Order: sequence, then structure tokens, then C-alpha cells
Amino acid sequence: MAPQTALKHRRSYASIDLSILPEMDCLREWPEPIVRVQSLSESGAPTIPAHYVKPPSERPTAAPAAAGLSIPVVDLGMLKDGADAASCDAATVKAIAEACREWGFFQAVNHGVSPGLLRRAREVWRGFFHLPMEEKQRHANSPMTYEGYGSRLGIQKGAILDWGDYYFLHFLPLCLMSHHKWPALPPTLRETTDEYGEELRKLCRRITRALSMGLGLEADHLPVAFDEEGTCMRVNFYPKCPQPELTLGLSAHSDPGGMTILLVDDHVAGLEVRKADSWISVRPLPDAFIVNIGDQIQVLSNAAYKSVEHRVTVNASSERLSMAFFYNPRSDIPIGPIPQLLTAHRPALYQPMTFDEYRLFMRKAGPRGKKLAG
Ligand code: OGA
Ligand code: NI
Repeated sequence: MAPQTALKHRRSYASIDLSILPEMDCLREWPEPIVRVQSLSESGAPTIPAHYVKPPSERPTAAPAAAGLSIPVVDLGMLKDGADAASCDAATVKAIAEACREWGFFQAVNHGVSPGLLRRAREVWRGFFHLPMEEKQRHANSPMTYEGYGSRLGIQKGAILDWGDYYFLHFLPLCLMSHHKWPALPPTLRETTDEYGEELRKLCRRITRALSMGLGLEADHLPVAFDEEGTCMRVNFYPKCPQPELTLGLSAHSDPGGMTILLVDDHVAGLEVRKADSWISVRPLPDAFIVNIGDQIQVLSNAAYKSVEHRVTVNASSERLSMAFFYNPRSDIPIGPIPQLLTAHRPALYQPMTFDEYRLFMRKAGPRGKKLAG
């Protein structure tokens, strides 16, 4: 994409600093040598390097300000697979819509993906992060596509980094998917990940239909607006940290895509969601998914549904694994507010922009708060 194309859309994303977009060339390599957080953790050093120390205002707060509050829990058992309105139970639609208007987040229980598959998916990916470093390094990624084994998001030289490694891969569109870019070990990783991706895509379709109906639209409105959906996944691995009070596993950010389905660690907490000026910790129920609205659905819904900032804390005693599945619109079509939602009182809040253009900002800047107004 030429930088001029991005400039055209500057009005709607006023808080994005375009000076970070000099040349595509800067995406070829990381600005500094990559150090695996896992290696730092395993070195046993009692302190973390200075470039992981966050400024005091961004550090985790010892006692969460609003203890007791929590994100809504929604039972998806009544949400069927069909594309017609009758498949969407009215009470479930209402619960999802309210959660996404108020919180941008909910916990999904009774979602239909089998606990056995969740267990196997976590197991193979834990297995990957516990392979010898030389094996993992074969998949080292670059900022051009982010696919593979990575240890930072964003390419700003001298940035304060997050205490986490990850693996990023594509499922759809098929032209971006290649098993060769996925780890070959553990031996069942590829087939388990395929199965996981397919089940989560189906779940995302069910939820986006409910989201459409929650906006007063036909059930298929959002899926059609997504056109050919894109799906990808980042498996996050947060090693033990000797000074967890000084850093974060993942800095505050909103997710740039359509919707995210997060499978969090079954033992270790760490996800926090912004509610006004506080950070609310998520206490996951067993085998639940955490579902959240991303920036593209906020745009399509003209900010009826909120893409909300969240972040991850780390701890000294346990590593943590999470799997973030991203459900995105086709990346080369303009995404703007759905015309049927616009009124004289509520005009369009955003100019259309393709997801490819939008995520380029994110890929360069890394996780740094929320870029979208509204
Ligand atoms: C993400 C994310 C949260 C977590 O990957 O975008 O927000 O708990 N992850 O790891
Ligand atoms: Ni996120």
C-alpha cells in the first residue's frame, strides 16, 4: 500500500501517528535483534532488562480498582447453526448484544466446541513452546507478515517490549494458509490446529449472526459484509517473570480485526479488560471462551458495539498460554458503517477503510492502546 492511500483516510483515524509509516521497507526486518522472552525467563536472572520496564502509569495495579465487577457470561446453547433468524434465540441475541454494547466482551459457555478439542489444542501448543530453542527458531518470523514464532509486535526501534512470545498463523483465506508455515512438531499440532480453526470459524459465524440481529438487521448481514472472511490465530506464551509488577505480557490494545475468540489458560489468570478508568480481571470459567468485539465490527456497527482495550499481566510463579483466534472481514474491501444503521441523529462516525490498510498501522505501531475513536 502506498502511504498516500493511508493519508486519504487520515480524518477518520485522527489519533494514528502517520510519522511511523515512512517506508514499507522497514517491515523487512526487526529493528533490533530478537531476544526470546522464554530465554530471558529461563536464564534465572532476578531482574528484567530495562526495555521491558513499563512507565509507572502502565504498570499493573496491585489491587484492581473495581473488584467484584466482571464481564457478562452468555450461554450459547440456544444459538443454532442455520443462517435464518429462527436459528437465533431472541434471549441469547439480546444477551450478546447488551454485552457487546456495554463491555465489548463476554464469556461464552455452552458454545458447542468440545472440551476435548480445547484440551488437545492447548496441549500441542504448550508442547511447541517447550521444544528446544533451535527447533522453534526455524520458524522465526519477520514484521512483513508476522507469520511464525515471534517475540515482539511493532517495529519501533527502542520500544518498550512486552513479556511474551507468540506464534502467528493464518487459516483463511486459503491463499495465505500453508501448513509449511506451521510448526511440524509436536506431531499432532497441524491436524489439531486445523480442527480447532474449523470449529472456531463455525462458532464465529453463529455469533456474528446474533450480532447482526442485535443491531436489528438480517441474521446474515454481518457475515455478508465480511465477504470472504479471514481467520488467523496468535498463540501467546507468557513465561514466568521475576518482576511482574514492572511489566505486562501484552500492553493495552484493542483488537484490530472483526471479532476475537480467546481461549485462556486453564489455570493462570492474567487478562484484564478496561471499564471506564479501571482494569477488570477476567476470571475464566472452565472451558469457556472469552469473546470480544474488534475495531472492524465497531466500525461496521457505527460504534453500537465497542472494541474495548484489554491487556495481560504476568506473574513470577507460572507461565501462561492463551490462544487468540481472529475473525476478520475480507481484507481488501472498504469497511465502513452499515448504511441501514445511519440516521440524522447518528451519522457515520468513520470513513471506509480496508482492513489491510488498517492493520498496517497496527503492525508497525504494536499494541499501543486503542486507535479508533468512539
Ligand atoms: C490478544 C490478546 C489476551 C491474552 O492476543 O490479542 O488480547 O489473554 N490476548 O493472552
Ligand atoms: Ni487482544
